[in-house]
Amino acid sequence: MDSDKYPPEDGRRRFVKGVVGTATLTSVGTAASGALNAATSAAGGTGGPTSYVGIENTAGPAPRGMPLVPLTIDDEGYLKGIWPEVKEKELKDGSTLTITEQEIGGVTYTGRWFQYCGVQIAEGVRPDADQDNFLRSKPGLYEWQADHEQGQKLHVDDFADYEEWSNGIGSVGAGKAAQTTWRSQSDDDEDVKQLPVQVLRSPKVSDLPEESENADFLRAATESDFVAWLDKCTHFCCTPGFNASQDASKFNATDAVYCQCHQSVYDPFSPVELSFNAFPRPE
Ligand code: FES
Repeated sequence: MDSDKYPPEDGRRRFVKGVVGTATLTSVGTAASGALNAATSAAGGTGGPTSYVGIENTAGPAPRGMPLVPLTIDDEGYLKGIWPEVKEKELKDGSTLTITEQEIGGVTYTGRWFQYCGVQIAEGVRPDADQDNFLRSKPGLYEWQADHEQGQKLHVDDFADYEEWSNGIGSVGAGKAAQTTWRSQSDDDEDVKQLPVQVLRSPKVSDLPEESENADFLRAATESDFVAWLDKCTHFCCTPGFNASQDASKFNATDAVYCQCHQSVYDPFSPVELSFNAFPRPE
């Protein structure tokens, strides 16, 4: 392993540029704790009011941003999403519930962030699902992934040209995106509801935490100019793309994430604190 190429945790965090409004950031910890209490006491036990950090919805009918997937890079340079710690939560009636919860940079990160648009029934959102968390290539949306095997692990070297890359849709050097699946491997792929995740490597990612009250979270959730989010449009659950559609420029969505279904636009360089009512998992 080249330690300069895949720097360790302490050496990789860089600068931050914030975009999060102060009004949205008050009582983050309190809100998250409240969400946990509500979720564990609600019918179904595993959904409920949930605070999260997502990429901002800036135009179109989508009601809110798409949740970030905190990521890391392993010692061999492969990209991995971070899955929150699995815990047993004791309920008021004395029974226990398996949950996912982890403090990351002052933000409570849970698997409930992803429980919408049918993802709540995916095997991968079960807290202790047998998954390895690597971000795995899903060719189709981006031509550059055409020579990938479906499901191969994405590597830092796949993005080595990100500072000069363009597919003719966005600006040169705006960033290189990939379509992936996360926590979606199975012996029988046909039966797995996948977690689609888009990953982007852009020089602008290292600026995200600057002036943000979520700076510590954003430093921990991004690495080496990579950021990732669950790619499920919060409007009607299509899979948008960063510089993936020639139509994006018609809707002021160049160098942004554009949903071709009904023209929603998301800004991957504007992480914001949001909340929603997560669906419970079926169990
Ligand atoms: S804008 Fe409707 S599904 Fe994305």
